[in-house]
Amino acid sequence: MRLIATAYPVESAVMSGGTPWWKTAVIYQVYPRSFADSGGDGIGDLPGIIAHLDHLAWLGVDALWLSPFYRSPMADFGYDVADYCDVDPLFGSLADFDDLVSAAHERGLRVIVDWVPNHTSDQHPWFVESRSGRDSPKRDWYVWRDPAPDGGPPNNWVETWGGGPAWTLDPASGQYYLRLFLPAQPDLNWQNPEVRHAMFDVVRFWLDRGVDGFRIDVVHALGKDPALPDDPAELIPIPHSALHHDPRTHAILRELRQLLDAYPGEPMMVGEVYLLDTHLVAEHYGDGDELHLAFNFPPLYCPWERDAWRDQIERAEAELGPRGAWPTWVLSNHDNRRHRTRYGTEARARAAAVLLLTLRGTPFLYAGEELGLEDAEVPAERRVDPGDRDGCRAPLPWNADPRHGWPVADPWLPWPPHPDELNVATEQADPGSMLHLYRRLLAERHRSAALATGACALLEAPPGVLAYERVADDDRLVVLVNFTDQARPIRVTGTVLVASDGQGEGLGLSGELGADQAVVVRPDR
Ligand code: NOJ
Repeated sequence: MRLIATAYPVESAVMSGGTPWWKTAVIYQVYPRSFADSGGDGIGDLPGIIAHLDHLAWLGVDALWLSPFYRSPMADFGYDVADYCDVDPLFGSLADFDDLVSAAHERGLRVIVDWVPNHTSDQHPWFVESRSGRDSPKRDWYVWRDPAPDGGPPNNWVETWGGGPAWTLDPASGQYYLRLFLPAQPDLNWQNPEVRHAMFDVVRFWLDRGVDGFRIDVVHALGKDPALPDDPAELIPIPHSALHHDPRTHAILRELRQLLDAYPGEPMMVGEVYLLDTHLVAEHYGDGDELHLAFNFPPLYCPWERDAWRDQIERAEAELGPRGAWPTWVLSNHDNRRHRTRYGTEARARAAAVLLLTLRGTPFLYAGEELGLEDAEVPAERRVDPGDRDGCRAPLPWNADPRHGWPVADPWLPWPPHPDELNVATEQADPGSMLHLYRRLLAERHRSAALATGACALLEAPPGVLAYERVADDDRLVVLVNFTDQARPIRVTGTVLVASDGQGEGLGLSGELGADQAVVVRPDR
């Protein structure tokens, strides 16, 4: 096979020799409401997570990212925080959180928490005070503006869901406040030094409790030009949250990075940079002095097509490589339809798992993808999310019993399809399951320096097949992903280490890649 694109310096094969942990880690997102319930209210909680840490250690992930569990009125299911330094009683207590961190660390699992700095809940005492009047000492903690001359919103920014203005009028004071998301999520004013101070104290609070890092919500929206210029008319009605970028954000990120760097244990921050342009995403790594990692969402929205994926990989490398920025890969999360649902078949979801876990960069798994879960069908009367994201947030089935390991038969959302087969216990007992495929891929990733940190180069391959090699020193693996539903001839010879369908592992590659099949191969020398 001929090399058609080379990239990036090969990193040391000695993973313990100075490679930061977040480069070699596989990070597993837990949506606390939906993971496991210990309390019997049909809503997952922190003790529920603790009770299942052994499963995650068995699976072989390295770190957990916990979506918000802070005190919240739950208008946006926890992304509307009313107290950044306490656990919502729905999920447990600070003591439970401390137990969770200790129990995770005992098992070699790091813990990353979600930090939601762009906006608070409208019930947060800061906003209650800010709203109390134009003279409030906290007025400037949020983004208040007078109405436009016609009495309408101060600029043309569009909210994230619903297509209306990103502003809410406060009749008592006659001013509007900015809220890129719901009216219940007012934007903080990060240009105010007191806000920075207070929010950096929140970061210290969790670092002092032993967390290993942060997933930062809507991080690209923190810096705002006080003039709040209109978005270009041709981009309306794209939500402003998907367009916003401002150089002021970089100064904030540099300050934050210094704060984290002063802590032991290499705490890490991964930013949700929801800009659908990898070039803009890359800017948020700075010169190695801003985010450690940034989510790159274009691949998540990429169709299951070879050429489209090859473009995404080339694009990520071209944009991130020159900065020395480390890529991330994510196929599913709590905001989007699961990739098992988007790609349509289990065979494709299996091939996608091979892709996700063998690309160069840090993969993020979303709880349940290792079971091959599809989105739940949520009937209209049970829909609760303002952003229509309930389907991917369905509870995780732990076993085949009628309650699937939950204390109640009917948790906060309906079960995903086929919970009798697609559950942890059933799949654990079946070596051919999706769960075991993820486990084998994770094990291979931990064994192989090439997969963990090695260079990645795309290879020439037949139509519909994506081929790349991963190389670190004398460790060389080839990955082949068949995006078509027909078998494809393959000229690589070598031993199959992992196959998406489990076929032929440990044997020589047969000269053919099966329909929808993906394999990790140790090539013959
Ligand atoms: C991104 C989060 O992932 C999403 O769930 C949330 O609704 C918005 N940010 C607002 O915080």
